[in-house]
Amino acid sequence: MIKTPPILLNAEKILSTLRHSSIDLHILNEIDSTNNYLKTLIGKNEKITICLAETQTQGKGQLDRHWYSPFGENIYLSMLYPVERPMHKLGGLSLVAGLSICHSLKSALDLKNAELNIKWPNDIFINRKKLGGILIEIQRKSPTHYDIIIGIGININMLETPQEVISQDWSSLLKITGQYIDRNIICTLIINTLIDYLDRFLSNTLTDFLEEWQSHDLLAGKAISLISHNKEFQGICAGINKQGELLLKTKNTETLAFSSGHISRYE
Ligand code: BTN
Repeated sequence: MIKTPPILLNAEKILSTLRHSSIDLHILNEIDSTNNYLKTLIGKNEKITICLAETQTQGKGQLDRHWYSPFGENIYLSMLYPVERPMHKLGGLSLVAGLSICHSLKSALDLKNAELNIKWPNDIFINRKKLGGILIEIQRKSPTHYDIIIGIGININMLETPQEVISQDWSSLLKITGQYIDRNIICTLIINTLIDYLDRFLSNTLTDFLEEWQSHDLLAGKAISLISHNKEFQGICAGINKQGELLLKTKNTETLAFSSGHISRYE
């Protein structure tokens, strides 16, 4: 059942269960975009900083799309994470972030009867419908120092939307589980797990996550169309390589690797 009024975000609740110390947490009622908010803090401190908002007036999605962000219903979370690593070693970051979200959701909720997948590179799907997405923005401080902003939107208690605000089939955790969910619990889990996964990714490599990726990969083995640099490529998705690039087997059996792109169709 939907709760009115909603359980609001609560800094005390979240901070009391965070496993990592020295995190700055900013909870806002309303902001244009939690990613934009963190950009204004870049260079001001070297700590991991989290911004959560009840609503975003200009939530940003992939491909310059608007991210619908109704008040008090879903999670709009951004993390500012300073890293010391050359850019070419950051490939696959969004995949690791996606895996950490799936892990968090599975540990909090009974999703045994649901299919939780990631559509390369940054969409979270549940039962073949969009549940959430990731928008990563990177600011370069030097060739080896970056501030990474990982923006995460997840549909939690949303049951309906005004027509046409979301163009694709979507779902929410409330729709799947039938339970109203306290977002504070999920936020804590996501923050804890995301930091663990990022630490592991940065001290090892993506290879460490390949098996976990395979069990969440929505596209492997499917016929797909991918748009990269304004060109469309078609073929069968053959998973990812050690750099997190999507592998596409074309009909003349060559395998192409893509570090970025948009999946416009999959079977
Ligand atoms: C996508 O298009 O799938 C990515 C959506 C990312 C949305 C999140 S909500 C929190 C953060 N702030 C934003 O403006 N966007 C991201």
